[in-house]
This record gives sequence, structure tokens and C-alpha cells, in this order.
Amino acid sequence: VQKLEMIYEGKAKKVYKTDNPDLAWVEYKDDATAFNGLKKGTIMGKGELNNKISAHFFELLAQKGVPNHFVELKSDTEQVVKILQIIMVEVIVRNIAAGSLAKRLGLEEGTPLKHTVLEYCYKNDELGDPMINDYHIAALGLATKEQMAQIAEMALKVNEVMREYLKDKNIDLIDFKLEFGLHRGKVLLGDEISPDTCRFWDTETKKKLDKDRFRRDLGDVEDAYREILKRLQGGE
Ligand code: C5P
Repeated sequence: VQKLEMIYEGKAKKVYKTDNPDLAWVEYKDDATAFNGLKKGTIMGKGELNNKISAHFFELLAQKGVPNHFVELKSDTEQVVKILQIIMVEVIVRNIAAGSLAKRLGLEEGTPLKHTVLEYCYKNDELGDPMINDYHIAALGLATKEQMAQIAEMALKVNEVMREYLKDKNIDLIDFKLEFGLHRGKVLLGDEISPDTCRFWDTETKKKLDKDRFRRDLGDVEDAYREILKRLQGGE
């Protein structure tokens, strides 16, 4: 695959065309944003860490039967993926109350939930990604009922696979965000799975090993991301 011109630059990634119309070349950046772009910064080494962490999860998920866009790593900060027609719905899965859910429902962060929570947000920066439900998704024509049924099933499968896998690495999977898209008419998991998009807590100490360290100025941001990659690679 040949890397051609850049077609898109987002908050954390650059996307390039390739000589294969089915494939895109993605470069993960060190740039970090939070609160819908209001907070900006750089996390040294994040591009490389998230590229490798994402690839690791996508390979695990493909093995476990969750079809996704990942094709192959190209360098420390680059990977090739299948081009998706992205579905404009962000899917959030939660096991433990944290972040916006803890705030909205008046729960203390860290409170276990009696049932897995699935939330949908309309992927729209101008509106600040408002939460929506199946009715809004149908009303806006963002996806069909059949697609949403598949997406919900895939999101819950991702949760089971990742939770189980991370348990052995001494990492609690608190919550995470997924994006899906269509490739040749098929629903595939896309975007990234990294400490930018998941909450990971150390099982013993409950130390946050994710982007909350950046959002909340907790320090040791890069170390936390590095620790996640190290544990995935079996360093602990
Ligand atoms: O902020 P909130 O508690 O709703 O976030 C839930 C999960 O979704 C967190 O793991 C967060 O990192 C992720 N998320 C994301 N991108 C967004 C919103 C949330 O990756 N735009």
C-alpha cells in the first residue's frame, strides 16, 4: 500500500489516501484535546502509544469475532485501515460509574453499576455530542434499526472481550467509547481504542491510567499510557 495525500486532519489523527480505494493510512498524533476541544495540549509519545494500543485491541477483537477496520501497522505512529462510511453515533459502554454518568446521576465515581449501560451520542462537535436514543437515531436517519441492533450487540461483545482480557493485566475497564461504520455494506468497528477513548483503572490502587490524567491535570499522563501498552505487551 502506498501513502498518498492527506484527506483529513482531526484532533488526534491525520488520514491519508492510499493507492487502494478501500484503504486509508492513519497517523496518530501527540496532540490531545478535551472538553470538545476547549482544552488543548500535547502528550509526548501519545501518537506511538495509541497507535500500538489500538492495533493491539483491534487484533484481539478480530480474533474474538468482532469485525473491525484495522489492517496493519505501518510504523510506530501509523496504521492502515479499511475506509468506513462512518455512522455519526458515538457508542459509550459503562461498567462502573465515572465521568459524565457519575455527574448526571449523582453517583460517586467508582460505584459499580448493577447492569452494563449503553449510551449513544450524536457525533456533532457544534452541538457538543448530545446524548440521543434509538428514536433520535431513527428520526435523524443516522442508522437503520438493523444496523443499531448489530452495533449494540458488537459493543457489548467488545466490552466482554476487553473486560476479560484486561482483568489478567490488572486493569479495570470502567467505560469506553466506540465508533462504527459501513464497509461494503457491512458494519465494522472503527476509530481507535486507547487511553484517549477508554477509562482504565489499576485494579489494586485504582490509579487512573487514561486521558482523565490530562483532562483533570493529574500529571504522569504519558507514564499512564506507557503503562497500558506495557501491560498489554505482557510486561507485567
Ligand atoms: O465523559 P464521559 O464520562 O461521558 O465519557 C465516557 C467514556 O467515553 C470515557 O471513557 C471517555 O474517554 C469516552 N469518550 C470519548 N470521546 C468522547 C466522549 C467520551 O472517547 N467524545
